[in-house]
Amino acid sequence: MMPAACVRLDLEAARHNLAQVKRYAPDNKIMAVIKANAYGHGIDRIAGALDLADGFAVARVDEGVRLRKAGFKQPITVLQGFVCVDELQQLLNFQLTAVIHTPQQIAILQQQTDVQRKLSVWLKMDTGMNRLGFKGPDFNIAYQQLRGCALVEQPINLVTHFANADDLLDDKTRRQIDLFNEAIKDYPGECSIANSAGIIGWPNVRFGSAKERGGDWVRPGLMLYGCSPFAGKIGADFGLKPVMSLHSRLIAVKDVAAGETVGYSGTWQCRTPTRLGVVSIGYGDGYHRHTKSGAPVLVNGQRVMLIGRVSMDMITVDLNSQPDAQPGDPVILWGDGLPVEEIARHADTIPYTLLCGITQRVQVIEHSLTDGSAQAVTSTS
Ligand SMILES: Cc1ncc(COP(=O)(O)O)c(C=O)c1O
Repeated sequence: MMPAACVRLDLEAARHNLAQVKRYAPDNKIMAVIKANAYGHGIDRIAGALDLADGFAVARVDEGVRLRKAGFKQPITVLQGFVCVDELQQLLNFQLTAVIHTPQQIAILQQQTDVQRKLSVWLKMDTGMNRLGFKGPDFNIAYQQLRGCALVEQPINLVTHFANADDLLDDKTRRQIDLFNEAIKDYPGECSIANSAGIIGWPNVRFGSAKERGGDWVRPGLMLYGCSPFAGKIGADFGLKPVMSLHSRLIAVKDVAAGETVGYSGTWQCRTPTRLGVVSIGYGDGYHRHTKSGAPVLVNGQRVMLIGRVSMDMITVDLNSQPDAQPGDPVILWGDGLPVEEIARHADTIPYTLLCGITQRVQVIEHSLTDGSAQAVTSTS
């Protein structure tokens, strides 16, 4: 029996998307970004499915340690680096690569006396994101300091991050690329700029030449999960396939008279007599509470619309176009046939938050890579 609410994860689609990154960036190495539990898909299973990636990136030390304990041998970059000696020790113990972005991290590195094991690092330049990294002359000073650190593996790799690459009309991205390439031009380490939007939208980054070097490594996240980084587009526009589909089922069907309101606070009033369906999915599963009336939902493969507020365990849909629908009938909230990008728009959010937001009670059905068979597992973690 189908569980009340489940996500189906198509691991073959994840592999397909990785191959698609390779098509966009044939000369680059790929650091698959699998932080935040692989954008809600399950970090171990996605790392396993993406074993052809050249490396992985996670946000935090514990995510990297988890991957190592699960047996992954690829280079793993910790994008937030470390904040204390204990975390530095974990990075060394588990052979994780650190992003260096503060003077405090460099001071900790300089104080270390046991330098038998080396720490591989990416030095981060802040080219305009104004989040992590060193700006202008501080970047060069940090570089020289790391050059003098016995603990640090040489050469030092160089990284920056785009702020607005999803806006192809904003020349900030061009300025970020130029700033970075100018700053690193005499440094021998490997370098990396591009996230998904950079890979798809900014060709100079992916096809780095001797001067345009910013792209030794690309760092795709969202596109690996089949989504478009550009507003108004969907993954399929770029040859990507959704990895996650969120499924549920109808649990009740009833008729409501014209003039009646539906759900909490009565935000939806039926203009005509309405056959109403109740679906067993809600914000307690990760279906965003701010999804507005009018958002599409697939019932028996056909589009109907969400009406009324999303509650913790249920939503209501207008079934006037499907008068024969019955409790038990299948419902898809996003994924196969219904792009999550479209649902994100109806919820005033971005696909990242929807994918990351699936909760523990939602069952996971994983599609095997070997024979395509489906296997139920307990949760996304
Ligand atoms: C430093 C860094 N690089 C790459 C990525 C991947 O970005 P995207 O998921 O947009 O491809 C992220 C994600 O937030 C990031 O923080």
